[in-house]
This record gives sequence, C-alpha cells and structure tokens, in this order.
Amino acid sequence: MCGIVGYIGKGDGAPAVIDGLKRLEYRGYDSWGIAVSESDKIKFHKQVGKIGGFELKRDLPDFGGSICIGHTRWATHGGVTEKNSHPHFSCDKKIAVVHNGIVENYQELRKELESKGHKFVSQTDTEVIAHLLEENLKHKKSKKDAVLKTLREIEGSYALGIIFAGEEILFGARKGSPLVLGVGKQEFYLGSDVPAFLKHTNKVVFLDEFQMVEISGGNYEVSDVNSGKAAKVKETKIEWDLDEAEKGGHPHFMIKEMLEQPTVIEKTISISEEELSPAVKMIEKAKNIYVVACGTALHAGIYGSYLFALENGVMMQPISAGEFPHFGSLLKKGDLVITVSQSGETADVLEAVKSAHKSGAKVLALVNVMGSSLMRAADYSLLTKAGPEICVLSTKAYVSQQAMFAMLSGALKGKVSATKKLLLKVKDDVSSILSESSRKNIAKMAKKLAKVDNIYALGRGINYSNALESCLKIKEVSYIHAEGFGGGDLKHGPIALIEKDVPVLVFAANDGVDKEIVSNAMEVKARGAEVIGISYQNNEVFEQYLPANDHGLLTPIASIVYSQLMAYYIALEKNLDPDKPRNLAKSVTVK
Ligand code: M6R
Repeated sequence: MCGIVGYIGKGDGAPAVIDGLKRLEYRGYDSWGIAVSESDKIKFHKQVGKIGGFELKRDLPDFGGSICIGHTRWATHGGVTEKNSHPHFSCDKKIAVVHNGIVENYQELRKELESKGHKFVSQTDTEVIAHLLEENLKHKKSKKDAVLKTLREIEGSYALGIIFAGEEILFGARKGSPLVLGVGKQEFYLGSDVPAFLKHTNKVVFLDEFQMVEISGGNYEVSDVNSGKAAKVKETKIEWDLDEAEKGGHPHFMIKEMLEQPTVIEKTISISEEELSPAVKMIEKAKNIYVVACGTALHAGIYGSYLFALENGVMMQPISAGEFPHFGSLLKKGDLVITVSQSGETADVLEAVKSAHKSGAKVLALVNVMGSSLMRAADYSLLTKAGPEICVLSTKAYVSQQAMFAMLSGALKGKVSATKKLLLKVKDDVSSILSESSRKNIAKMAKKLAKVDNIYALGRGINYSNALESCLKIKEVSYIHAEGFGGGDLKHGPIALIEKDVPVLVFAANDGVDKEIVSNAMEVKARGAEVIGISYQNNEVFEQYLPANDHGLLTPIASIVYSQLMAYYIALEKNLDPDKPRNLAKSVTVK
C-alpha cells in the first residue's frame, strides 16, 4: 500500500520520479505528491486523485531538481486530502519525508513533539517522522545519526525516502515495507518495487529489514539501523525487461497480463527437477502442512491442496493468512507452512512466516517477486516467474501459482516431464481461450452480465478454487456481488439466493465429480438460474457453454481464464478502470 520513489544524481530527478510513481500507482492511487531539494528550501507539489493523466512538462513545467522524492498514497491514517498526501515536512520545511507503512506509536510521538512546540498540519502518522527527525537533528552531530535515532524510535513499519533542503543527500530505510535501491551510472533510485526505475537501471539492491541507505557524493552506503554499522549488500541484476512492466499497446494492464498467460505457463514450468527437489523433500518430511496466503494466492493454495490430496494423497490445510494468527501457536517443529504470494510483501503472509519460524516450522514460498521479503524470509522459495503484475487484479500470477503447484505435485510423484507435457497442452488451451474470437464471445456475454446485481459460481473438488477465484475477479473489478460455492454446499444455504435469471457459472472437469456438479446445475436451473457451463463437455443444463478441454486435474488452470475475461469485459461494459478498482491496492502491506 502506497508507493515511494526517490532519485539522486546529476540529472533532473522529477521526470524519473513522476514516471516511477505512475508505475507504482497500482500500490495506491487516492493522491500523490513530489518534492525536490533546492538550495535553501524544499519545493513540492501534492494532488488528490490518480497520477495517471499528469504530465510534468505540461502541468508543472518549472518543477525539477536533482534530489527528488515522490509518493502515491493509499490512505490509512487521515482522509484523502491534499494535506494528508505525502511528502510530509518538518516545522522549518527543511526536511521532507515519503513513507509506506504505519507508525504504530505515532499518537505518543505526536503528543510528545507537540509538547516541544512542533506544529502538525496533517492527520497522518507519517508527519511525526519529519518532526521527530527535526527534533533529533538538534542533538545529533550528523544527519545519519539523527536518521538512525529516528528510525529506532518509530514502532511499526516503514519504507522511507528522506531529503533535506540544500543538501545533496538522499536517505532510504525499510522495516516491514519493501524498498529497493536502483544503482545507475552516478544516479541512484529508490522504489517500493523494481518497475519504479527499471527503465533506468536493472542493477538493484534489495534492502533488508531494518536497513538504511545513505546516498551522497555519487556513492551509497547501507547501514544496519540497530548497530549503525555498514552492512554488506549484494547488487542483483533483474532479468525482467521493461516491456513486461508496460502496457505495450494494450488499453489496460489487465488484458495485457491475461494475454501473457501462455508465456507465463511456459516460464513457470521451465523450473528444473533440481530446483523442485528441496521443496519436494520439505513436503515429504513434513508432519503437518498448511498453505497460507491471501485473496487470489489463497485460491491458488486451495487449488494446490486439492491437487496434492487427489494426486498424491497428501493433506495440506489451506488457511487465510489473515486468520492464521489464531492457529499459528499450534504449529510444531517438523510442520511445514507453504506460503503463496505474488508480491512477497503481503503483511499477513509475512506475519505467518514469523510465527511459523517461532514454532520451529519450516516455510516454503511460491513467490513471484525475486528479492521480496517473503523470498528472503522463507527457508526455500520457488519463483513463479509470472513477471511484473501491475494490474491490481491478479490474473497471470494465479495461473503461474496453479502451474507451480502442478509441477510440485508432479515432482512428488516423480513425474516432472509428464507434468510439463500436460501443462504445455493446458497452455495451448489458454491461448485459444484468449484468441480474438473467444474474447469477442465473452465480451458479448459480458454485455448482459454487466446488468445483473448478483453472479454466483459453483465448483466441486479440483474446481472449487475456480468458483471462488472467478467471483473474486468479478466482484473486485465490476463491483457486482459475486460469490463462489462448493456444489455440495449449495443446499446448506446458498440455494436460497437463486432466483429467476441469476447467472451461475458452473465449472466441471472430467474428475469423477462432474455428475454431481451437473446435478447442482440442474438444481439452480430449476429455480430459474441461467447456467453458464465451463466444462470439458456440453450438457443440456447449460444455457451457455464455454469449452474447457479435458486435462484431468489440471483443467482448472485453463478454465479460470474464461472468468478472468468475463470480469474484464464486465468492467469495460460498466466503464470502470479494470487496472485500479476502487479501494484496492496491489500489495497489502498493512495488517
Ligand atoms: O501479493 P499477494 O499475492 O500476496 O496478494 C494477495 C492478495 O492481496 C491478492 O491476491 C488480491 O486478492 C488481489 N486483488 C486479487 O486479484
């Protein structure tokens, strides 16, 4: 939640920071702001709303400077106003701060600072950082010492960018929120995520927990916040190319990312037996296995747990990371927590990792972002290789997570190459579901779907996760109430919701429970529902039929793509921005 960008170098940082903020807008888009250090003051601009349409040259032609920070906000403390948007300043306006995270002790700090005469202008937690730093500067010899002292006094989480009026210096720091340093030629960047500056450099340093970076005089030094001593860091070359982080001629990231899915499947399954082997051993050794994730990643985890149960007879208990704290203390040494995450920065997931490690359990991560907090905290990670996912809705990451579970399950039964072959066939089906004619057909269906108030989905067994995921996609992007149910759960309550003409998506695979799900389809149809079948074979109960070729337990990896497309076209029908649904942020880095 919230994205921060920073620049220091010989050039003008403002265009790079504005561009970076546009790329990070998926992290928050209710307001934004930018500041540059000038000889004796800090110049800034703040604005409520999305940064998307802002053009620096046109809208703020005289704004520029070689030391610059920027922020795109997803409000937590304080309403969506210009005053609450970042950067925040010290009383003398000589210090500017951008922040992603939450200062948990901000009320105490604010009271104390107010008693010392500091005047606050916003309702945010972040503003205390600027004032606290101003206060600490009075007593510390160097800026570095004052920043370190400030960081030690803040409780909670932060990724920070800090600049000073008239000083050629940029500070960054992280604890609990991601921050990456980009190393260019005599130019340095800070970003909440790599795409913020990938255009300029692919050489990066992923700052570790409780580390601070000081950049000045063409050099950077990373220090441990606790000890204040210099820390050893590794510069990593990022393999993502910029095209992956740009729309490439598509109207939205969502469609672009959905269209990438065949390639993503190929990339995900390029994993070798050797890379899978440590994960397989962890599963074999584990006493109890839990799959912990949020949202779409949790749905992929549910898919994985069914796959492991049905293919390998292995029990994995899926638990939402948000609910995991209630179970965390029951973990024991020898247990395994499999975490799934696109960003690798989801706060609840990282919390689950901590509690797993506390109990002596091991953590295996299926994660998309290299160098992410999850990747670094896990005992072993499998990189899902979906590439940068910018749209707030997760599509290609879901499919890559499902494919990775399939590879892992295949590896457990010693069938890596057979699984790869099968997944290549699934990939071909994904391509045909994404073909122009198929998209046109879904877009046509979406015209009608966009007018309804409720949509339901049914799935059983291996398709249960798709019933949940398809409805998450639809509700997130179209604001239509959508709910997925297990076919068997229907008669225990949800069937009361069925009325004339309500659309019900029914997922069926050739998995032995297809007759039961068809019976469930009959039951809802008898009560007036309009049944849309996404199935390996047609049936008279389906009013509309979308073919999903039979790949046994891997069928759902292709069939979900129909509902992703449905969600997208419903959003377009309703004139909504599919990349940035209201109230949502891409990475949920707060609990
Ligand atoms: O980055 P993560 O995979 O950990 O994110 C988990 C969820 O926040 C995410 O999947 C969310 O549900 C998306 N908006 C789904 O489209």
